[in-house]
Amino acid sequence: MKLIAPIILLLLALFSISSAQLKSIEGNETKIEELISKMTLEEKVGQMTQVALQVITKEGKERVQIEPVHLDLEKVRELILKYKIGSFLNTGQAANSLEKWHEIITQLQDITLKESRLKIPIIYGIDAIHGATYTLGSTLFPQSFAIAASRNRELVRKSAEITALETRASGIPWNFNPVLGLGREPYWPRFWETFGEDSYLASELGYEYAKGMQGEDLSNPTSVVACLKHYIGYSVPNNGLDRTPSWIPDRALRDLFLPPFAKAVEAGALTVMVNSAELNGIPVHSSYYLMTKILKEELGFQGFIVSDWLDVKRLHSRDGIAETPKEAVKLAVLAGLDMSMVPLDVSFAVLLIELVEEGVVPILRIDDAVRRILRVKFALNLFEKPYPDRSLVSQFATKESAEVSRIAAQESITLLKNENSILPLKIVSKILLTGPTANKLMYLNGGWSYVWQGNNEELYPNEKHTFYEALQSGFGKENVNYIEGVKTSEVIDIESVVEAAKDVDYIIASLGEEPYCETPGNIFDLTLDEAQLKLVEELSKTGKPIILVLFEGRPRVINKIVDKVDAIVMGYLPGSEGADAMVDILLGKVNPSGKLPFTYPRFPGGNTTYDHKPIEESEDVHYTPQWPFGFGLSYTTFEYSNLTLSDAKSINDKLTVSVTVKNAGKVTGKESVELYITDLFGTVSRPSKLLKGFDKIELIPGESKQVEFLITPEHFSFHNRKNQKVVEPGDFIITIGNLKKKINLK
Ligand code: BGC
Repeated sequence: MKLIAPIILLLLALFSISSAQLKSIEGNETKIEELISKMTLEEKVGQMTQVALQVITKEGKERVQIEPVHLDLEKVRELILKYKIGSFLNTGQAANSLEKWHEIITQLQDITLKESRLKIPIIYGIDAIHGATYTLGSTLFPQSFAIAASRNRELVRKSAEITALETRASGIPWNFNPVLGLGREPYWPRFWETFGEDSYLASELGYEYAKGMQGEDLSNPTSVVACLKHYIGYSVPNNGLDRTPSWIPDRALRDLFLPPFAKAVEAGALTVMVNSAELNGIPVHSSYYLMTKILKEELGFQGFIVSDWLDVKRLHSRDGIAETPKEAVKLAVLAGLDMSMVPLDVSFAVLLIELVEEGVVPILRIDDAVRRILRVKFALNLFEKPYPDRSLVSQFATKESAEVSRIAAQESITLLKNENSILPLKIVSKILLTGPTANKLMYLNGGWSYVWQGNNEELYPNEKHTFYEALQSGFGKENVNYIEGVKTSEVIDIESVVEAAKDVDYIIASLGEEPYCETPGNIFDLTLDEAQLKLVEELSKTGKPIILVLFEGRPRVINKIVDKVDAIVMGYLPGSEGADAMVDILLGKVNPSGKLPFTYPRFPGGNTTYDHKPIEESEDVHYTPQWPFGFGLSYTTFEYSNLTLSDAKSINDKLTVSVTVKNAGKVTGKESVELYITDLFGTVSRPSKLLKGFDKIELIPGESKQVEFLITPEHFSFHNRKNQKVVEPGDFIITIGNLKKKINLK
């Protein structure tokens, strides 16, 4: 009788979860229960504890960035054998070679598997954010906000597959990515880690990423378990600064911020990391409502929840909601946290044992957490294959993978201005290149690139091209003269640049930001640094055509110079192949097709996202972004016609929308065809429009294609005044390109 209840509960839980989740975890539940029944409290709590690499290396925090680390085996033994630690993370100061990773993972697994009682494999986690970030020589892709501009689901999936393969080739089966917060606050220094401001776009691309990362089956040797982060509400801090409070009413949380997580859970993603800060006055690491009620119960999430760095401790040391570190552990675990990224000691394990022994934390909660963690370890097949698979090395950082990264960059780069069709440039041209972001790979990659801040140029592969090198190879060395002129925020010598401009056909100004990641990237003014603006202002006086190229992690305000240049190309952080991709576009070898995944603000304040409310577009409040969400020019023109809606009468019917798109220009081009819905009347104010479909197609000159979208009630749904998810009948406008159709649905 006693056993039946948990089994029924388990079956019910498994029944309510998506088939993708099920596929990865089915078949292991009995083994997991057997294992749990053999575990001591110490062994269980050890599984819930994650420690950073620097704690178990001889070098510790003293590691010099480019010197390799060495495990301190005594320390490892203490952690694994005495404290039963089940997970490690991170890299210390810098990326390791493949061989070094193999050595580290092998040593850790050896001690667990040969010397521990239950031989439960370690799960190692890493931030493989736009490629295998922490393995030297890995393929680096455009950062997420860039690849979101490509609107190409297949490329997102492919980039995640390659990232998974290269992470697994390093012996690591767990990736702390994708970031599914929405990039709606351009000051926030992690803006570039998101798929942009739109909930639907982030949901669709997050889904593809999770699928690509985890593969058809997690037990596949090239699959890596994804970690959806940072759950939830981290990306819109009120003051724009990293790790500060957000306030999001439940309706907005459910309409905007939850769907990307829900969709990735549906894709089968099996781990989630918690928002490091607080939401609505409650540190998320202590929120039963968010972790247990919504994520585990409502969304049926069967994997495990890991804390972010130090964040359980911070409930005491920073947030003041726990009077002691022990109280902090209690709050987090009772709220539903399954694993703590402690990560610099084992205090979490020690305190949690006390809490269970004192009867404060029930053993059932511990078993639930351990069950979830073991579920992932079994799903990854770590019990059978715990060691690095050396056969994957030959597939690491191949030419083919670099080519995928280049295509991803080509499709991401977004043409924002092209006065008198100055682009593409003629190949026989004399070019003056200037600006701070032109001659280092770090400017193409940003944070999470071989080091946390991405700013160690020595670690980037030599053979990759900076923008300067790519221009030289595209236009001929003798035709490109580079004078830096300014650092990102400091003038060096603008006069020499102005002088040199006299002899050239074009000036290319490569502006943007230094690499940064997390809190070190905080800024207090969104306007691009004065030194860079001045460079362009001075150059504009020469009368020479100026092409402005931006490599930046968020849209820095450039309204002062927009009218002073002839063309503007948004490079984002396009990854290691990004410079070549940019030159492909400047030369017209590739027709640009990126579309902004966020609103590019005109001013440093008052940024308004595209899906704003009617009141934000009223007479007094002017909605005047520099460029709207979805903006992006091409070297050809696309004509839209025949917008047709199927015969839907009720809001609960499925609605098919089709449109014909023609390439009316002279060159082949790709176009993301985008469908927006405007709900004209609602019981709560409705956004001015919402993206609900996109499909990227390629057309040769003169060619037409019909594109079809299926709209379901889900696309019309939102949360009403009672926070219930509803569809409300009424008038809607469907917009694709410049075409609109009104429909009334009962
Ligand atoms: C970041 C996380 C990251 C973790 C581990 C934290 O500082 O907020 O995104 O996964 O470190 O490196």
